[in-house]
Amino acid sequence: MNQKRMGSFGGIIHGGDYNPDQWLDRPEILEEDLQLMKKANVNCVSLGIFAWSHLEPEEGRYDFDWLERIIQRLYENDIYTILATPTGGMPQWLTGRYEEVLQVNAYGMRNYPGKRHNYCPSSPVMREKTRQLDTRLAERFGSHPGVIGWHISNEIGGNGGDGACHCDKCQGAFRKWLQDKYGTLDRLNAAWWTSFWSHTYTDWSQVKSPSPRGENLVHGQNLDWRRFVDCQQRSFCREEIKAVRSHSSLPVTTNMMEFFEPLNYFKWAEELDIISWDSYPDWHSGSDELQTAAGAAAAHSLMRSLKKSSFLLMESTPSVVNWRQINRLKRPGMHELSSLQAIACGSDSVQYFQWRKGRGSSEKYHGAVVDHRNGEDTRVFREVARLGERLEKIAPKVIGTCNRPRIAIVFDWENWWAVKDAWAVDNNLNYQSVFVDFFRPLWELGIDADVVDMEGELDAYSVVIAPLNYMYKEGYAEKVRSFVRQGGCYITTCWSGEVNDSDLTYTGAHPLEDVLGIRTEEIDAPGGYCENSVRYQGTDYRITGLCGLVHTKGAEVLAEYQQDFYKGYPALTKNTFGRGEAYYIASLNERSFLKAFYSDIVKERGLGCGLQVRLAEGVTVNERSTPAQDNGAVERVWFLQNFNREPAAVELLARYENVETGETLTGRITLKTFECMVLTEKK
Ligand code: GLA
Ligand code: ZN
Repeated sequence: MNQKRMGSFGGIIHGGDYNPDQWLDRPEILEEDLQLMKKANVNCVSLGIFAWSHLEPEEGRYDFDWLERIIQRLYENDIYTILATPTGGMPQWLTGRYEEVLQVNAYGMRNYPGKRHNYCPSSPVMREKTRQLDTRLAERFGSHPGVIGWHISNEIGGNGGDGACHCDKCQGAFRKWLQDKYGTLDRLNAAWWTSFWSHTYTDWSQVKSPSPRGENLVHGQNLDWRRFVDCQQRSFCREEIKAVRSHSSLPVTTNMMEFFEPLNYFKWAEELDIISWDSYPDWHSGSDELQTAAGAAAAHSLMRSLKKSSFLLMESTPSVVNWRQINRLKRPGMHELSSLQAIACGSDSVQYFQWRKGRGSSEKYHGAVVDHRNGEDTRVFREVARLGERLEKIAPKVIGTCNRPRIAIVFDWENWWAVKDAWAVDNNLNYQSVFVDFFRPLWELGIDADVVDMEGELDAYSVVIAPLNYMYKEGYAEKVRSFVRQGGCYITTCWSGEVNDSDLTYTGAHPLEDVLGIRTEEIDAPGGYCENSVRYQGTDYRITGLCGLVHTKGAEVLAEYQQDFYKGYPALTKNTFGRGEAYYIASLNERSFLKAFYSDIVKERGLGCGLQVRLAEGVTVNERSTPAQDNGAVERVWFLQNFNREPAAVELLARYENVETGETLTGRITLKTFECMVLTEKK
């Protein structure tokens, strides 16, 4: 039998979190679910995510029959299951009997039972209970033809927490982790710069997690603690994966949360077969939709880049969320557009949280496909059903394709942690939003970008952009040097190459001084007294962030500061190195600067948007293509997306075909409000 699996489903997955365990006493509801799923063009659900207390109602007594009935019934109706391991929420019997499974916070207080995503990842009891349950689930369902993959736990580390547990077991594991890393206390003291304030460690037992009640200003320690927390959560997840793999060869994923600060998703990607994530953009909140849309595209691109492969949109809301202060309905059309945006950026699914609204507790007003009332007769249900139809139509052109950008932007979790903890000139600096600022102008130009971290490969790209690359990990400067030498274009900014892996500043020259052709000196915070601007190609651009003061050492000056005591200092430089070139953007400027600068770079490098089009503001395009065949042939599909709150006209400079209608399109065409058109080459 040709078993369907996540990753080779044979179509676009459409469905979402299904929590029938909340409705087991209402068989008519479960029956109605099935009928409505068919009408909504749902072909897959995620099951059992928070079902531990139904799967193991008492310690050691397992009850999987109800789940089997549901999986089987769905399967008979061509609806497949992504099966979860239920560690996102712990049953009362577990937390009541074994205190050690509960996390201890940074103040040293142990949590009470309840809430979710809050187990101690070091607890042997938690690991063992999880192993037993996961193994049994895999044994029972691992080869059910209706099950296509594993959803390990849920939003690990999430729910407002940071994944950290400060209990004695975790403290012990942290010390062990440090001993493995440093070998001796002398090395640890050197890496952590502990002579500062006379805090040199003389015995391993003195070393603890950072705490608001104690040490929290030793940057090397904070950084190592974050690395450890990430590692410890990952090691728990790895054990879950091992347990399901003991009886199942199905692919595994865990649902990520975009730029989730506590977990280094580049490292997590190595543990997983498929990347999936939960996307909840704040539509209709700003004066326009563009910043939200660019941010969503950046997050999708990150997810695609983690494995350089298509991913799954595991959760999204078909209407509203309920956890923001103000929760607005998605306007007509936005559901289709935001879902197709995910596909445009590399997703092979559109899934929801959740299928049916529950009746009680904190998510009863969170949007779902099926409301408390009115069954299929709702605006949301109709929009979901219509999207399902569209996904079926476009699937043959989409499945097997992916985005293949030639530009990458560096985003590195450890750099993020270090930037946040730097105590420097601008302590409000937000690395993630600076990253989006560097992503958005490409998005406006209709050019895809991958996201790489400092450990990633650069050589496949023509251009690598590294904003606020404050930390240079061991080997990174050498990798960039060789990338540029071989013909790459490297663009970086002020506040780069400052510290090493331990968050200790480099002394002497900037690690890439030869490549950049500059010498860096001071750094200024803008605003107030220090308003400034830079002039590039005859236009003045306002400075909105840091200003680096640098001197050329061989580089050519392309822009200069216009005011203050550093008027005339270089604000943008270019240095030729080997067969490539390196640019240094000394200040963080208003967005239009980057758009102008990127336009010049992509022109020089022949990297325009693949669709021949004159875009309008607020309209963008993503390209997915098949891998090139031996003769170089590829099939391309484009997603032309209008994020404007009104119709927008663009001009197609070649002939294309609308994948859904078969219509030929060329010249000026108008996209409706929030419309996404799927195009392919006209043969
Ligand atoms: C997350 C969780 C879901 C649900 C949604 C609500 O994505 O994984 O269980 O709580 O948030 O938006
Ligand atoms: Zn712990």
